[in-house]
Amino acid sequence: MIVLDQKNRIFTLHTQNTTYQMKADQYNVLLHTYYGSRIDGFDLSALIQYGDRSFTPNPSEAGSNRNYSLDVMPQEYSTCGVGDFRLPSIELELANGSHTADMRYEGFRLEKGKYAMEGLPGFYSNEDETETLVITLKDAAAQVDMELYYSVFEDYDLITRTVRVVNQGTEEIRLCRCASLCLDFLRTDMDFITFNACHLMERCMDRGALRSGIQSVGSVRGISSHQHNPFVILCDRGADEDTGICYGAMLLYSGNFEAAVECSQYENSRLVMGIHPYHFCWTLEAGQAFTAPEAAMICSPDGFGQMSRQYHKAIRRHLLRDPYTGRRKPVLVNNWEATYFDFTADRLADIAREAAALGIELFVMDDGWFGSRNNDNCSLGDWQVNLDKLPGGLEALVSRIKNMGMKFGIWMEPEMVNEDSDLYRAHPDWALQVPGRAPSRGRGQLVLDFSRKDVRDHIYDQMKKVLSCVEISYLKWDMNRSLTDVWSVTLPARRQGEVYHRYVLGIYDLLERLHRDYPHILIEGCCGGGGRFDGGMLYYTPQIWCSDDTDAVDRLRIQYGTSFCYPVCTMGAHVSAVPNEQNGRVTPLKTRGITAMSGAFGYEMDLGKCTAEEKMEIRRQVESYKIYYDLLHDGDYYRLSSPFQDGIYTAWEHVSANRREALVSVVYDRNGAAPLFGTLRLKGLDPAFQYQINRTDSFYSGEILMKAGYPLPQMKGDYSAVQIYLRASE
Ligand code: DGJ
Repeated sequence: MIVLDQKNRIFTLHTQNTTYQMKADQYNVLLHTYYGSRIDGFDLSALIQYGDRSFTPNPSEAGSNRNYSLDVMPQEYSTCGVGDFRLPSIELELANGSHTADMRYEGFRLEKGKYAMEGLPGFYSNEDETETLVITLKDAAAQVDMELYYSVFEDYDLITRTVRVVNQGTEEIRLCRCASLCLDFLRTDMDFITFNACHLMERCMDRGALRSGIQSVGSVRGISSHQHNPFVILCDRGADEDTGICYGAMLLYSGNFEAAVECSQYENSRLVMGIHPYHFCWTLEAGQAFTAPEAAMICSPDGFGQMSRQYHKAIRRHLLRDPYTGRRKPVLVNNWEATYFDFTADRLADIAREAAALGIELFVMDDGWFGSRNNDNCSLGDWQVNLDKLPGGLEALVSRIKNMGMKFGIWMEPEMVNEDSDLYRAHPDWALQVPGRAPSRGRGQLVLDFSRKDVRDHIYDQMKKVLSCVEISYLKWDMNRSLTDVWSVTLPARRQGEVYHRYVLGIYDLLERLHRDYPHILIEGCCGGGGRFDGGMLYYTPQIWCSDDTDAVDRLRIQYGTSFCYPVCTMGAHVSAVPNEQNGRVTPLKTRGITAMSGAFGYEMDLGKCTAEEKMEIRRQVESYKIYYDLLHDGDYYRLSSPFQDGIYTAWEHVSANRREALVSVVYDRNGAAPLFGTLRLKGLDPAFQYQINRTDSFYSGEILMKAGYPLPQMKGDYSAVQIYLRASE
């Protein structure tokens, strides 16, 4: 609900549990007055304290009033060069060389439904599900208008926002910074939580207290990156899964980003999040506009668990465009770890046949099917079937797969080119490269200039030939390097700062075309695993390969970190062979199954090499996944312990909306000789219900399970796992 107090120019956005407020003051400065637990009916600007503080300038309108300074007041969208020395949200370069920006309140409008953003991903809704507030600001001297958009998804405590900047002058201006979100707090006693690490170990949670100065995470790799994720949290120092206020900030963007927090001199802090200012400079000619990517905030007064569950629901219902919405996704088998580049049609058919017999429904042919790609040094860009490997082409292979009753999926890496490819030989200038410099390779490949429509059109034509020649149900869109040598032949020198962003817009354009032309194809995003696991990609690819690390124990950490924002249905997760290909660890098959089941589930191994006993276990896993699918994918997700802190085991739980069913998964760490005699306290159940355990005659009340816990079974061997299914008796 959006409440307007027009007389006092106060704008209050209420969600179910939270309130967000701003106010235009006597000098038309838009103040941010509050964000937190819901408070009704107040002007919260009374919380702002004014006083004379040295070295904090006073705007000219304040006259001799030295108590008024932009440098200490909470701003809704911070400016630069005019007296607020903290993190700016916008920076303009005007024709006269000035770098100031001073945006003042002009007006507002209310709209039904969600604002629209052309060419950019965002949460969507029906007209009657959301309301939008648009605040208009103006920098009169710069002749720049700005619109701040806020859409309120009440039930999810979600507020989405974006910013549109318009050059109303007659001269060209340059936008050097344009954040999507600015959030000021009158406090610094908070922790900053980020999700970091590297390829093969993405989104590990890192938590630290705010300290003086600026702390930030970001990416200048052209992708949102394995190293840092465009989702961060600010929270009470003591916040945990169930208590404490926490603020989630998610940027729906797949390229360079920055999330920075500054603690400033008078116990206030500011979070600014948006496109990274590194090599970003967007020219706006007279009349032109720029729209920043969407940011999505959820505040939870009750800890991380509630925040995550709200994100999960909002993402599932209002961000994903999944052809399987309302239906179960097929269980897949992917040949990558089973064969790498070394396969023939017969070998693939063997894997598919084994898989079909175990209840697996979709066969995915990974890298190596095109050009002369027998290793990763050639052929990217040549999306024609390698007839030596696949005689009879895709048609013959797909017909064999279909005859086994399976669907077929295929791998592509559309953004890339190898120098050893027909495409590169014909169009060497299509790769990103700086004149006079030999471009850096990554995995032996170069990056196509996706900021160019002609390049995208050519790739799309090739893709269409592949996707239209046979029945394809699934596409894995991979991307296997960071961007370097970012320079485009199509843009003049002064506009080269647009290439990174235009590249991302180019990907979105192609993905949108795919979505339009092949709405039935399930697209799984991938970037060497989880290098582009962000809300922007999720709008186009409703699941993303979570990591190239398929080891079940490492995956506990990766999936745990990922779950703070993203729902399990978005996390591609496969059971693979042991010793694990990435780290050599041996874990029980059951553990691998239980871990992967909390994701978009599949297998990535040569099933023909499994023993009869292993095949029986796989059959059981596939059946369980199908049975528990709704619970796993639509249920509420509870983290019961942390793989980073709680050593002995990692546990999590899925609970159905009506609380009548729950599935608890526990993966034990290395085992000691002394058994564990502990109980595990569950969450989210109905205290009054009696729950039957694993369909046996053992029953516990919800109250006991939540207050006293469930006695954990004692297990033998390292990394064992159990799944406990609870069903409320009638
Ligand atoms: C990286 C992906 O993450 C893998 O799953 C696989 O598809 C390879 N690329 C293929 O080159």
